[in-house]
Amino acid sequence: MVATASAQAGEQGWSSRTAFILAAVGAAVGLGNIWRFPTLAGENGGGAFVLVYLVCVLLIGLPLMLSEFVVGRAGQSDAIGSVQRVADESRVSRRWSIFGGIEILAGFLILSFYSVVAGWVLYYIWLSGGDFFGNLFAGEALRGAFSDLGQDAVSGMMGDLFASPGRLILVHALFMTATIAIVASGVHDGIEKAATWLMPAFFFLLLGITIYGAFTGDFGRAVTFMFTPDFSKLTAPVMNEALGQAFFSLSLASGALITYGAYVARDVNLAPTAATISLADTAVALIAGLMIFPIVFAVGLDPSVGPALIFQSLPVAFQTMPGGSLIGLLFFVLIFFAALTSSISLLEGPTAWAIDRFGLRRPAAAVMLGLGAFVIGIACALGYNVWADVRPLGFWDIFADADILDTIDGFTGKLMLPLAGLLMSIFVGWKADRRLVEVQTGLSGGLFVLWRFLVAWLCPIAVALILLFGLFPQLLG
Ligand code: PHE
Repeated sequence: MVATASAQAGEQGWSSRTAFILAAVGAAVGLGNIWRFPTLAGENGGGAFVLVYLVCVLLIGLPLMLSEFVVGRAGQSDAIGSVQRVADESRVSRRWSIFGGIEILAGFLILSFYSVVAGWVLYYIWLSGGDFFGNLFAGEALRGAFSDLGQDAVSGMMGDLFASPGRLILVHALFMTATIAIVASGVHDGIEKAATWLMPAFFFLLLGITIYGAFTGDFGRAVTFMFTPDFSKLTAPVMNEALGQAFFSLSLASGALITYGAYVARDVNLAPTAATISLADTAVALIAGLMIFPIVFAVGLDPSVGPALIFQSLPVAFQTMPGGSLIGLLFFVLIFFAALTSSISLLEGPTAWAIDRFGLRRPAAAVMLGLGAFVIGIACALGYNVWADVRPLGFWDIFADADILDTIDGFTGKLMLPLAGLLMSIFVGWKADRRLVEVQTGLSGGLFVLWRFLVAWLCPIAVALILLFGLFPQLLG
Protein backbone atom coordinates (compact mmCIF):
# COMPACT_ATOMS: atom_id res chain seq x y z
CA MET A 1 0.00 0.00 0.00
CA VAL A 2 1.52 3.29 -1.06
CA ALA A 3 1.07 6.21 1.26
CA THR A 4 2.15 9.29 -0.61
CA ALA A 5 0.55 11.06 -3.53
CA SER A 6 3.80 10.90 -5.40
CA ALA A 7 4.40 7.25 -4.64
CA GLN A 8 0.99 6.56 -6.07
CA ALA A 9 2.10 8.58 -9.03
CA GLY A 10 5.03 6.21 -9.40
CA GLU A 11 2.49 3.87 -10.91
CA GLN A 12 0.46 6.60 -12.51
CA GLY A 13 2.39 9.86 -12.94
CA TRP A 14 2.53 11.63 -16.29
CA SER A 15 2.59 9.03 -19.02
CA SER A 16 5.00 11.01 -21.21
CA ARG A 17 7.01 14.21 -21.48
CA THR A 18 4.28 15.65 -23.69
CA ALA A 19 1.64 14.86 -21.11
CA PHE A 20 3.70 16.67 -18.48
CA ILE A 21 4.17 19.70 -20.71
CA LEU A 22 0.46 19.85 -21.52
CA ALA A 23 -0.47 19.58 -17.86
CA ALA A 24 2.04 22.23 -16.83
CA VAL A 25 1.12 24.58 -19.68
CA GLY A 26 -2.47 23.92 -18.67
CA ALA A 27 -1.63 24.98 -15.12
CA ALA A 28 0.16 28.10 -16.31
CA VAL A 29 -2.21 29.31 -19.01
CA GLY A 30 -5.50 30.42 -17.54
CA LEU A 31 -7.44 33.35 -16.19
CA GLY A 32 -4.06 34.84 -15.29
CA ASN A 33 -3.31 35.34 -18.96
CA ILE A 34 -6.69 36.27 -20.33
CA TRP A 35 -8.32 38.03 -17.40
CA ARG A 36 -5.73 39.12 -14.82
CA PHE A 37 -2.96 40.24 -17.18
CA PRO A 38 -5.12 42.62 -19.26
CA THR A 39 -6.86 43.84 -16.11
CA LEU A 40 -3.61 44.73 -14.36
CA ALA A 41 -1.95 46.11 -17.47
CA GLY A 42 -5.02 48.30 -17.92
CA GLU A 43 -5.02 49.48 -14.31
CA ASN A 44 -1.29 50.17 -14.26
CA GLY A 45 -0.86 52.19 -17.39
CA GLY A 46 0.09 49.54 -19.93
CA GLY A 47 3.63 49.61 -21.29
CA ALA A 48 5.63 50.11 -18.11
CA PHE A 49 3.77 47.30 -16.41
CA VAL A 50 4.18 44.98 -19.40
CA LEU A 51 7.91 45.69 -19.55
CA VAL A 52 8.51 44.90 -15.87
CA TYR A 53 6.33 41.85 -16.24
CA LEU A 54 8.41 40.49 -19.12
CA VAL A 55 11.68 41.13 -17.29
CA CYS A 56 10.29 39.38 -14.19
CA VAL A 57 9.22 36.34 -16.22
CA LEU A 58 12.61 35.98 -17.85
CA LEU A 59 14.97 36.70 -14.97
CA ILE A 60 12.94 35.56 -11.96
CA GLY A 61 10.02 33.43 -13.11
CA LEU A 62 11.80 31.06 -15.44
CA PRO A 63 14.69 30.28 -13.06
CA LEU A 64 12.23 29.74 -10.21
CA MET A 65 10.01 27.50 -12.31
CA LEU A 66 12.99 25.24 -12.89
CA SER A 67 13.72 25.37 -9.15
CA GLU A 68 10.20 24.15 -8.36
CA PHE A 69 10.46 21.25 -10.76
CA VAL A 70 13.87 20.37 -9.31
CA VAL A 71 12.55 20.33 -5.75
CA GLY A 72 9.50 18.30 -6.75
CA ARG A 73 11.32 15.66 -8.71
CA ALA A 74 14.12 15.36 -6.15
CA GLY A 75 11.67 15.27 -3.25
CA GLN A 76 9.03 12.98 -4.80
CA SER A 77 6.27 14.30 -2.58
CA ASP A 78 3.91 17.24 -2.05
CA ALA A 79 5.15 20.83 -1.72
CA ILE A 80 6.02 20.46 1.98
CA GLY A 81 7.20 16.85 1.91
CA SER A 82 9.43 17.44 -1.11
CA VAL A 83 11.25 20.33 0.53
CA GLN A 84 11.71 18.28 3.69
CA ARG A 85 13.25 15.44 1.78
CA VAL A 86 15.61 17.69 -0.16
CA ALA A 87 16.51 19.38 3.15
CA ASP A 88 17.27 15.98 4.72
CA GLU A 89 19.46 14.95 1.84
CA SER A 90 21.24 18.29 1.97
CA ARG A 91 21.61 18.10 5.79
CA VAL A 92 19.89 21.40 6.46
CA SER A 93 16.93 22.21 8.67
CA ARG A 94 13.53 20.86 7.70
CA ARG A 95 12.11 24.25 8.67
CA TRP A 96 12.83 25.39 5.14
CA SER A 97 9.65 23.59 4.20
CA ILE A 98 7.82 26.65 5.55
CA PHE A 99 7.87 28.02 2.03
CA GLY A 100 6.15 24.85 0.85
CA GLY A 101 3.49 25.54 3.45
CA ILE A 102 3.03 29.12 2.27
CA GLU A 103 2.74 27.78 -1.27
CA ILE A 104 0.02 25.30 -0.41
CA LEU A 105 -1.96 27.90 1.52
CA ALA A 106 -1.58 30.39 -1.33
CA GLY A 107 -2.77 27.82 -3.87
CA PHE A 108 -5.82 27.09 -1.72
CA LEU A 109 -6.68 30.78 -1.35
CA ILE A 110 -6.17 31.47 -5.05
CA LEU A 111 -8.46 28.57 -5.89
CA SER A 112 -11.23 30.15 -3.83
CA PHE A 113 -11.50 33.32 -5.91
CA TYR A 114 -10.34 31.70 -9.13
CA SER A 115 -13.42 29.55 -9.16
CA VAL A 116 -15.64 32.60 -8.65
CA VAL A 117 -14.16 34.34 -11.69
CA ALA A 118 -14.31 31.13 -13.72
CA GLY A 119 -17.97 31.04 -12.73
CA TRP A 120 -18.44 34.39 -14.49
CA VAL A 121 -17.04 32.70 -17.57
CA LEU A 122 -19.60 29.92 -17.25
CA TYR A 123 -22.34 32.50 -16.93
CA TYR A 124 -21.20 34.16 -20.14
CA ILE A 125 -21.08 30.80 -21.90
CA TRP A 126 -24.67 30.36 -20.87
CA LEU A 127 -25.69 33.83 -22.11
CA SER A 128 -23.72 33.61 -25.36
CA GLY A 129 -24.90 30.06 -25.98
CA GLY A 130 -28.51 31.14 -25.64
CA ASP A 131 -27.90 34.04 -27.98
CA PHE A 132 -26.07 31.97 -30.60
CA PHE A 133 -28.51 29.08 -30.67
CA GLY A 134 -31.39 31.53 -30.78
CA ASN A 135 -29.86 33.11 -33.86
CA LEU A 136 -29.12 29.71 -35.33
CA PHE A 137 -32.70 28.52 -35.07
CA ALA A 138 -33.87 31.83 -36.49
CA GLY A 139 -31.70 31.06 -39.51
CA GLU A 140 -29.30 33.91 -38.77
CA ALA A 141 -26.31 32.11 -37.36
CA LEU A 142 -23.87 34.82 -38.42
CA ARG A 143 -25.42 37.70 -36.53
CA GLY A 144 -23.46 39.73 -34.04
CA ALA A 145 -23.67 38.83 -30.38
CA PHE A 146 -26.72 40.17 -28.55
CA SER A 147 -27.44 42.22 -31.62
CA ASP A 148 -30.95 43.08 -30.51
CA LEU A 149 -29.63 44.77 -27.36
CA GLY A 150 -28.00 48.16 -27.01
CA GLN A 151 -24.35 48.54 -26.04
CA ASP A 152 -25.21 49.69 -22.54
CA ALA A 153 -27.40 46.67 -21.95
CA VAL A 154 -24.56 44.37 -22.99
CA SER A 155 -21.87 45.96 -20.89
CA GLY A 156 -24.43 46.06 -18.08
CA MET A 157 -24.84 42.28 -18.06
CA MET A 158 -21.87 42.06 -15.72
CA GLY A 159 -23.60 44.37 -13.27
CA ASP A 160 -26.70 42.16 -13.31
CA LEU A 161 -24.60 39.15 -12.49
CA PHE A 162 -22.72 40.94 -9.71
CA ALA A 163 -25.99 42.03 -8.15
CA SER A 164 -27.21 38.45 -7.79
CA PRO A 165 -25.62 36.37 -5.01
CA GLY A 166 -27.61 33.33 -6.09
CA ARG A 167 -26.33 33.34 -9.65
CA LEU A 168 -22.75 34.08 -8.60
CA ILE A 169 -22.73 31.23 -6.12
CA LEU A 170 -24.42 28.80 -8.51
CA VAL A 171 -21.84 29.22 -11.28
CA HIS A 172 -19.02 29.16 -8.72
CA ALA A 173 -20.41 25.86 -7.41
CA LEU A 174 -20.59 24.39 -10.90
CA PHE A 175 -17.01 25.26 -11.67
CA MET A 176 -15.69 23.99 -8.34
CA THR A 177 -17.57 20.73 -8.82
CA ALA A 178 -15.87 20.16 -12.18
CA THR A 179 -12.48 20.92 -10.63
CA ILE A 180 -13.02 18.53 -7.74
CA ALA A 181 -14.27 15.76 -10.03
CA ILE A 182 -11.14 15.88 -12.18
CA VAL A 183 -8.68 16.00 -9.29
CA ALA A 184 -10.52 13.19 -7.52
CA SER A 185 -10.07 11.02 -10.61
CA GLY A 186 -6.31 11.05 -10.19
CA VAL A 187 -3.18 12.34 -11.82
CA HIS A 188 -3.29 10.09 -14.83
CA ASP A 189 -7.01 9.53 -15.33
CA GLY A 190 -8.11 13.01 -14.28
CA ILE A 191 -5.56 15.79 -14.63
CA GLU A 192 -3.59 14.42 -17.54
CA LYS A 193 -6.66 13.45 -19.48
CA ALA A 194 -8.25 16.86 -19.00
CA ALA A 195 -5.07 18.62 -20.13
CA THR A 196 -4.52 16.47 -23.20
CA TRP A 197 -8.04 17.20 -24.42
CA LEU A 198 -8.52 20.78 -23.35
CA MET A 199 -5.15 22.35 -24.11
CA PRO A 200 -5.00 21.50 -27.82
CA ALA A 201 -8.60 22.67 -28.16
CA PHE A 202 -7.63 25.87 -26.36
CA PHE A 203 -4.73 26.63 -28.70
CA PHE A 204 -6.84 25.88 -31.73
CA LEU A 205 -9.54 28.32 -30.59
CA LEU A 206 -7.02 30.96 -29.57
CA LEU A 207 -5.35 30.87 -32.95
CA GLY A 208 -8.67 31.03 -34.77
CA ILE A 209 -10.01 33.97 -32.79
CA THR A 210 -6.73 35.86 -33.01
CA ILE A 211 -6.56 35.52 -36.78
CA TYR A 212 -10.17 36.58 -36.99
CA GLY A 213 -9.44 39.60 -34.79
CA ALA A 214 -6.41 40.58 -36.86
CA PHE A 215 -8.67 41.01 -39.86
CA THR A 216 -11.47 42.84 -38.09
CA GLY A 217 -9.76 44.89 -35.34
CA ASP A 218 -7.43 47.86 -35.28
CA PHE A 219 -4.21 47.08 -33.46
CA GLY A 220 -2.46 50.45 -33.52
CA ARG A 221 -3.59 51.95 -30.27
CA ALA A 222 -3.41 48.64 -28.38
CA VAL A 223 0.17 48.08 -29.47
CA THR A 224 1.11 51.58 -28.38
CA PHE A 225 -0.65 51.11 -25.07
CA MET A 226 1.02 47.79 -24.34
CA PHE A 227 4.51 48.40 -25.63
CA THR A 228 5.29 52.08 -25.09
CA PRO A 229 6.45 52.31 -21.50
CA ASP A 230 5.69 55.54 -19.71
CA PHE A 231 8.42 55.41 -17.09
CA SER A 232 6.70 57.92 -14.88
CA LYS A 233 4.18 55.13 -14.17
CA LEU A 234 6.92 52.82 -12.97
CA THR A 235 6.39 53.01 -9.21
CA ALA A 236 7.34 50.38 -6.64
CA PRO A 237 3.72 49.18 -6.25
CA VAL A 238 3.46 48.74 -10.03
CA MET A 239 6.64 46.66 -9.99
CA ASN A 240 5.25 44.66 -7.11
CA GLU A 241 2.07 44.06 -9.06
CA ALA A 242 4.02 42.98 -12.15
CA LEU A 243 6.21 40.62 -10.14
CA GLY A 244 3.14 39.09 -8.51
CA GLN A 245 1.52 38.69 -11.90
CA ALA A 246 4.59 36.86 -13.20
CA PHE A 247 4.35 34.44 -10.27
CA PHE A 248 0.61 34.05 -10.67
CA SER A 249 0.66 33.52 -14.40
CA LEU A 250 3.50 31.01 -14.33
CA SER A 251 1.80 29.20 -11.40
CA LEU A 252 4.87 29.73 -9.25
CA ALA A 253 5.02 29.46 -5.49
CA SER A 254 1.54 28.02 -5.14
CA GLY A 255 2.23 24.33 -4.66
CA ALA A 256 1.22 23.35 -8.17
CA LEU A 257 4.60 23.04 -9.86
CA ILE A 258 6.50 21.30 -7.08
CA THR A 259 3.68 18.78 -7.01
CA TYR A 260 3.59 18.39 -10.78
CA GLY A 261 7.38 18.04 -10.74
CA ALA A 262 7.09 15.04 -8.44
CA TYR A 263 5.13 13.20 -11.12
CA VAL A 264 7.76 13.66 -13.84
CA ALA A 265 9.85 10.73 -15.04
CA ARG A 266 13.60 10.80 -14.34
CA ASP A 267 14.59 11.02 -17.98
CA VAL A 268 12.74 14.26 -18.75
CA ASN A 269 15.11 17.20 -19.14
CA LEU A 270 13.60 19.85 -16.89
CA ALA A 271 15.34 23.02 -18.10
CA PRO A 272 14.05 23.09 -21.68
CA THR A 273 10.67 22.02 -20.40
CA ALA A 274 10.49 24.99 -18.03
CA ALA A 275 11.55 27.27 -20.89
CA THR A 276 8.82 25.90 -23.15
CA ILE A 277 6.16 26.39 -20.51
CA SER A 278 7.24 29.96 -19.69
CA LEU A 279 7.36 30.88 -23.34
CA ALA A 280 3.91 29.46 -24.06
CA ASP A 281 2.47 31.24 -21.04
CA THR A 282 3.97 34.59 -21.98
CA ALA A 283 2.90 34.27 -25.60
CA VAL A 284 -0.69 33.61 -24.55
CA ALA A 285 -0.73 36.64 -22.24
CA LEU A 286 0.56 38.95 -24.96
CA ILE A 287 -1.84 37.53 -27.53
CA ALA A 288 -4.70 37.98 -25.09
CA GLY A 289 -3.70 41.61 -24.60
CA LEU A 290 -3.54 42.16 -28.35
CA MET A 291 -6.96 40.59 -28.67
CA ILE A 292 -8.62 42.57 -25.89
CA PHE A 293 -7.15 46.11 -25.95
CA PRO A 294 -8.02 46.91 -29.57
CA ILE A 295 -11.62 46.17 -28.64
CA VAL A 296 -11.49 48.11 -25.39
CA PHE A 297 -10.28 51.22 -27.21
CA ALA A 298 -12.52 50.74 -30.22
CA VAL A 299 -15.67 50.78 -28.10
CA GLY A 300 -14.36 53.58 -25.92
CA LEU A 301 -14.12 51.64 -22.67
CA ASP A 302 -11.77 52.62 -19.88
CA PRO A 303 -8.86 50.12 -19.73
CA SER A 304 -8.54 50.60 -15.99
CA VAL A 305 -11.98 49.42 -14.87
CA GLY A 306 -10.60 46.37 -13.06
CA PRO A 307 -11.85 42.76 -12.92
CA ALA A 308 -14.93 43.36 -15.09
CA LEU A 309 -12.78 44.50 -18.05
CA ILE A 310 -12.95 41.51 -20.37
CA PHE A 311 -16.52 40.66 -19.46
CA GLN A 312 -17.76 44.14 -20.31
CA SER A 313 -15.65 44.89 -23.32
CA LEU A 314 -15.64 41.70 -25.30
CA PRO A 315 -19.39 41.11 -25.67
CA VAL A 316 -19.70 44.70 -26.86
CA ALA A 317 -17.10 44.05 -29.52
CA PHE A 318 -18.73 40.82 -30.57
CA GLN A 319 -21.97 42.73 -31.06
CA THR A 320 -20.93 44.42 -34.25
CA MET A 321 -18.69 41.71 -35.66
CA PRO A 322 -20.08 39.47 -38.35
CA GLY A 323 -20.44 36.03 -36.79
CA GLY A 324 -19.95 37.70 -33.42
CA SER A 325 -22.45 35.57 -31.57
CA LEU A 326 -20.56 32.39 -32.49
CA ILE A 327 -17.14 33.95 -31.84
CA GLY A 328 -18.33 35.20 -28.48
CA LEU A 329 -19.49 31.77 -27.47
CA LEU A 330 -16.24 30.16 -28.61
CA PHE A 331 -14.22 32.81 -26.81
CA PHE A 332 -15.79 32.07 -23.45
CA VAL A 333 -15.48 28.33 -24.03
CA LEU A 334 -11.78 28.94 -24.65
CA ILE A 335 -11.37 30.79 -21.36
CA PHE A 336 -13.27 28.05 -19.58
CA PHE A 337 -10.90 25.35 -20.88
CA ALA A 338 -7.88 27.39 -19.82
CA ALA A 339 -9.36 28.09 -16.39
CA LEU A 340 -10.21 24.47 -15.71
CA THR A 341 -6.72 23.12 -16.41
CA SER A 342 -5.40 25.78 -14.01
CA SER A 343 -7.90 25.27 -11.24
CA ILE A 344 -7.13 21.55 -11.14
CA SER A 345 -3.48 22.38 -10.58
CA LEU A 346 -4.47 24.75 -7.78
CA LEU A 347 -6.45 22.01 -6.06
CA GLU A 348 -3.84 19.32 -6.71
CA GLY A 349 -1.19 21.04 -4.56
CA PRO A 350 -3.25 21.04 -1.34
CA THR A 351 -4.79 17.66 -2.21
CA ALA A 352 -1.40 15.94 -2.61
CA TRP A 353 -0.37 17.41 0.73
CA ALA A 354 -3.50 16.15 2.50
CA ILE A 355 -2.98 12.68 1.02
CA ASP A 356 0.67 12.57 2.12
CA ARG A 357 0.20 14.21 5.48
CA PHE A 358 -2.99 12.58 6.70
CA GLY A 359 -3.15 9.45 4.56
CA LEU A 360 -6.49 10.52 3.14
CA ARG A 361 -7.86 8.92 0.03
CA ARG A 362 -7.57 11.15 -3.01
CA PRO A 363 -11.30 11.74 -3.57
CA ALA A 364 -11.85 12.56 0.11
CA ALA A 365 -8.95 15.01 0.12
CA ALA A 366 -10.07 16.70 -3.08
CA VAL A 367 -13.66 17.06 -1.91
CA MET A 368 -12.76 18.47 1.51
CA LEU A 369 -10.27 21.01 0.22
CA GLY A 370 -12.45 21.94 -2.74
CA LEU A 371 -15.36 22.56 -0.39
CA GLY A 372 -13.19 24.69 1.87
CA ALA A 373 -12.14 26.86 -1.05
CA PHE A 374 -15.75 26.99 -2.20
CA VAL A 375 -16.84 28.50 1.11
CA ILE A 376 -14.19 31.21 0.97
CA GLY A 377 -15.24 31.85 -2.63
CA ILE A 378 -18.81 32.48 -1.44
CA ALA A 379 -17.49 35.36 0.64
CA CYS A 380 -15.80 36.75 -2.50
CA ALA A 381 -19.08 36.52 -4.40
CA LEU A 382 -21.00 38.27 -1.62
CA GLY A 383 -18.37 40.99 -1.72
CA TYR A 384 -20.03 42.24 -4.91
CA ASN A 385 -23.45 42.69 -3.36
CA VAL A 386 -24.45 42.16 0.27
CA TRP A 387 -20.91 42.71 1.55
CA ALA A 388 -20.00 45.34 -1.02
CA ASP A 389 -18.73 47.70 1.67
CA VAL A 390 -16.42 45.19 3.31
CA ARG A 391 -12.72 46.04 2.97
CA PRO A 392 -10.96 43.17 4.80
CA LEU A 393 -7.55 44.87 4.92
CA GLY A 394 -8.87 48.40 4.74
CA PHE A 395 -6.39 49.58 7.39
CA TRP A 396 -3.46 48.89 5.03
CA ASP A 397 -3.15 51.63 2.43
CA ILE A 398 -2.32 49.37 -0.51
CA PHE A 399 -5.44 47.28 0.16
CA ALA A 400 -7.63 50.16 1.29
CA ASP A 401 -10.00 50.04 -1.71
CA ALA A 402 -9.97 46.27 -2.19
CA ASP A 403 -13.21 44.29 -1.85
CA ILE A 404 -13.10 40.70 -0.60
CA LEU A 405 -12.05 39.09 -3.89
CA ASP A 406 -9.48 41.78 -4.67
CA THR A 407 -8.05 41.49 -1.17
CA ILE A 408 -7.45 37.74 -1.40
CA ASP A 409 -6.15 38.17 -4.93
CA GLY A 410 -3.84 41.03 -3.96
CA PHE A 411 -2.64 39.48 -0.71
CA THR A 412 -1.68 36.20 -2.37
CA GLY A 413 -0.26 37.80 -5.51
CA LYS A 414 1.61 40.73 -4.05
CA LEU A 415 2.72 39.13 -0.83
CA MET A 416 2.46 35.37 -0.39
CA LEU A 417 3.75 34.26 -3.80
CA PRO A 418 6.81 36.55 -3.87
CA LEU A 419 7.58 35.69 -0.24
CA ALA A 420 7.48 31.95 -0.86
CA GLY A 421 9.52 32.47 -4.03
CA LEU A 422 12.10 34.46 -2.08
CA LEU A 423 12.52 31.69 0.49
CA MET A 424 12.64 29.07 -2.23
CA SER A 425 15.39 30.88 -4.09
CA ILE A 426 17.49 31.02 -0.92
CA PHE A 427 16.83 27.35 -0.27
CA VAL A 428 17.64 26.16 -3.78
CA GLY A 429 20.46 28.65 -4.33
CA TRP A 430 22.24 28.31 -0.99
CA LYS A 431 20.98 25.47 1.16
CA ALA A 432 20.18 22.52 -1.08
CA ASP A 433 22.98 20.17 -2.02
CA ARG A 434 24.57 21.55 -5.15
CA ARG A 435 25.21 18.21 -6.84
CA LEU A 436 21.69 17.00 -6.21
CA VAL A 437 20.31 20.19 -7.73
CA GLU A 438 22.64 20.17 -10.70
CA VAL A 439 21.73 16.64 -11.70
CA GLN A 440 18.02 17.46 -11.57
CA THR A 441 18.24 20.60 -13.69
CA GLY A 442 19.86 18.86 -16.63
CA LEU A 443 21.94 22.01 -17.10
CA SER A 444 25.71 21.99 -17.29
CA GLY A 445 28.60 24.41 -17.76
CA GLY A 446 27.86 28.08 -18.28
CA LEU A 447 24.09 27.66 -18.36
CA PHE A 448 24.11 26.05 -14.94
CA VAL A 449 26.30 28.84 -13.57
CA LEU A 450 23.96 31.43 -15.03
CA TRP A 451 20.87 29.74 -13.63
CA ARG A 452 22.47 29.41 -10.22
CA PHE A 453 23.47 33.05 -10.25
CA LEU A 454 19.89 34.07 -11.02
CA VAL A 455 18.44 31.83 -8.32
CA ALA A 456 21.02 32.51 -5.62
CA TRP A 457 21.63 36.22 -6.15
CA LEU A 458 19.28 38.02 -8.46
CA CYS A 459 15.99 36.44 -7.31
CA PRO A 460 16.40 36.93 -3.56
CA ILE A 461 17.72 40.47 -3.85
CA ALA A 462 15.27 41.67 -6.49
CA VAL A 463 12.24 40.02 -4.89
CA ALA A 464 13.16 41.31 -1.43
CA LEU A 465 13.54 44.87 -2.69
CA ILE A 466 10.35 44.80 -4.71
CA LEU A 467 8.41 43.34 -1.78
CA LEU A 468 9.77 45.87 0.67
CA PHE A 469 9.11 48.97 -1.41
CA GLY A 470 6.00 47.63 -3.07
CA LEU A 471 4.28 46.85 0.22
CA PHE A 472 5.60 49.92 2.01
CA PRO A 473 5.92 52.59 -0.69
CA GLN A 474 6.16 55.28 1.96
CA LEU A 475 9.73 54.06 2.64
CA LEU A 476 10.71 55.71 -0.60
CA GLY A 477 9.49 59.01 0.77
N1 PHE B 1 -1.32 30.31 -13.70
C1 PHE B 1 -2.74 30.24 -13.60
C2 PHE B 1 -3.33 31.30 -14.51
O1 PHE B 1 -2.59 32.07 -15.08
C3 PHE B 1 -3.23 30.39 -12.20
C4 PHE B 1 -2.51 29.54 -11.23
C5 PHE B 1 -1.77 30.12 -10.22
C6 PHE B 1 -2.53 28.15 -11.35
C7 PHE B 1 -1.07 29.34 -9.34
C8 PHE B 1 -1.83 27.36 -10.47
C9 PHE B 1 -1.09 27.96 -9.46
O2 PHE B 1 -4.50 31.39 -14.65
